[in-house]
Amino acid sequence: MRKITLFFAIVFCCSISAQVIHVKTNKNSLVYNVTKSKKVHQAHYGKRLNSTEGISNLKAIFNEAYPSFGNGRPNEVALLVKHDDGTLVTDLFYLSHDQNTKNGIQYTSIHLKDEKKNLFVDLHFKAYRKENVIEQWVSIINKESKAIELQNFASSAIGFKAREYYLLHFYGSWRKEMQMVEEKLTNGIKVIETKQGVRATEYENPSFMLSLNKPAQENSGEVIAGALAWSGNYKLTFQLDEVDRCQVTAGINPFASQYTLQPNQEFTTPRMIYTFSYEGKNQASINLHRWARKYNLRAGDEIRPIILNSWEGAYFDFDAKLLKGMMDGAAEMGVEYFILDDGWFGNKYPRNLANAGLGDWQVNKKKLPNGISDLIDHAEKKGLKFGIWVEPEMANPKSELAENQPDWIIQRKNNRKPMLQKNQLLLDLSNPKVQDFVYNVVSDILKENPRITYIKWDANRSIQNYGSTYLTSNNQSHLWIDYAKALEVVFAKLGKNHPKVIFQASASGGARVEYGILKNTHEFWTSDDTDPIERIFIQWGTNHIYPPIASAAHVTSSPNHQTGRATPLKFRFDVAMGGRLGVELSPTKLNSEELEYAKKAIQIYKDKRHIIQFGDLYRLLSPYDDDGYAAINYVTENKDEAILFVYCLEYSRRSERNVVKPQGIDPKASYLVEEINMDGKNKISAHKKVLSAEVLMNRGIDTDLRKPFTSVMIQLTKVK
Ligand code: DGJ
Repeated sequence: MRKITLFFAIVFCCSISAQVIHVKTNKNSLVYNVTKSKKVHQAHYGKRLNSTEGISNLKAIFNEAYPSFGNGRPNEVALLVKHDDGTLVTDLFYLSHDQNTKNGIQYTSIHLKDEKKNLFVDLHFKAYRKENVIEQWVSIINKESKAIELQNFASSAIGFKAREYYLLHFYGSWRKEMQMVEEKLTNGIKVIETKQGVRATEYENPSFMLSLNKPAQENSGEVIAGALAWSGNYKLTFQLDEVDRCQVTAGINPFASQYTLQPNQEFTTPRMIYTFSYEGKNQASINLHRWARKYNLRAGDEIRPIILNSWEGAYFDFDAKLLKGMMDGAAEMGVEYFILDDGWFGNKYPRNLANAGLGDWQVNKKKLPNGISDLIDHAEKKGLKFGIWVEPEMANPKSELAENQPDWIIQRKNNRKPMLQKNQLLLDLSNPKVQDFVYNVVSDILKENPRITYIKWDANRSIQNYGSTYLTSNNQSHLWIDYAKALEVVFAKLGKNHPKVIFQASASGGARVEYGILKNTHEFWTSDDTDPIERIFIQWGTNHIYPPIASAAHVTSSPNHQTGRATPLKFRFDVAMGGRLGVELSPTKLNSEELEYAKKAIQIYKDKRHIIQFGDLYRLLSPYDDDGYAAINYVTENKDEAILFVYCLEYSRRSERNVVKPQGIDPKASYLVEEINMDGKNKISAHKKVLSAEVLMNRGIDTDLRKPFTSVMIQLTKVK
């Protein structure tokens, strides 16, 4: 932390003329002006400026880089502090800033101080040059004489000037995550938030795309994509003010979360991630995907294995024999990992249903008398690696854990009845003892079974029973924040101490899909809905913000367990192959023809997955367009290879609409077009023909898809 005495010297030395602070990537610029009166104004966020000359003569977009309460502005505030004397006004002034660039990342910190109080605020920015992504977060440092209370503490506030604003955001529910809606902003405030605490992305995702002047197009227009990296309560506000500016304020949801900061303590907000595209939505997604693979995903440059997860194939109803049979089938198909899902633990209260055993992480002796190692031996004999499911933040009331450690449970106190969700309660992660317990549940499993190299970490309830026996009565409102911070610490420590283990974030399906948890995990379980038609929509929305390599997508049995819809195996594979492919069924239930097809499809995915997992994703035909089709393609960085999927969602009469135009390929090259992963005769007339990229991208390929639930997978290979 800086010395306060430095403040006066710096203020003096910098007070001579207005300054420009330029946060920049190859294609984006975020510019702040420091005025003569030491205010920091936002001057620009958008296209990269090679020269900022004269910008300080223009009107600011917003006259505060981090708007605080009490300095006259009517807009949403990023900061509201109750100072040591009970006053609420904060007025921030520039002290200094520093900037440096290392390995393609520009680091900027702008140091601010309240005019009267010893409250220091540092605005931090990381600008990723090549990926065109800017991260912002804030440190708030209390140098006042007594404790202060933070009441609002956003990660960032950024403003725009345009004629109109269109907000695309992602909403949903269990088994229907990441649905998309776009709306024109009207004057006032639009809020996207959660108060769930845990399982925070179930109903809304902390991300958006905001387009300026006209509704977002895939390949044109100015679009800002944003995402908050935080696993707890969040709040994103979009305020269209009286002079038609739009201020986006994003951060932890301050709802019931007043945070006391003792003297000399520092509060750090989560990171808000932005990218600005002036080539439409698709480029914004590509920027985020590239950035995530490199900087915000564990081992984002490593190929993901194909797994078979036991859940939909066995649920709670298994023994060692049944699991070994599943492994045999998985190995025959060419799967690389076997993941044992829920139901393997609990003895006094066996986990045979969702109503008991959660919290008692000892192997169930009745179901698995020879333990986990016996299963791993079998998996290894079959050439499979092994992974296991845990839900360490939770306990069923019917568990030894809940009996022995009642104080560890988040509770409403005053003898109020606990509210259950999925028959379970939540452990109080604000308590360091609980943090150790949760860490050790996973770490002990991994230490005792070093051959387990994949953990599926589930979380199936939200906070609700608000109250902590660990936090003091004055600090009860810290629970939401301390919980989320502790979760991050536990995940980071596990990752550090078990660097070779793959971690999946699951939460009733896709209720933990955000960049905070992704920093310490390899992937997320995208949804508990595995019906391919539903998945086309869910994956479509998810991949607007999060990369396909992290989107776990499993082929399950037909009729689908969630929707009852019957679909062909090929269609199910073609949809799941759009993400991190897995299988979640009992292979013993497949007939020999299906097994043969599955084997072939899995081999194709193995051969082509580098294109899907590391390539750029282009959205070609939207399932939202009511046309009955969806299409996407993936292109490698060197543009040598591409994979194209076209899906038919509805019956289409005999028509010539099913033309698809791939994107992102080398416009000067020609490509060999081949339909792959077929389950009968080919459905494209260009099969095995060479077409120029110009023909492909402008005329397009005809695909003979008319029946619902039919699809094609097409490979494009550059002809040198
Ligand atoms: C919810 C997950 O999303 C499912 O995949 C499965 O693991 C169940 N929990 C098990 O209880």
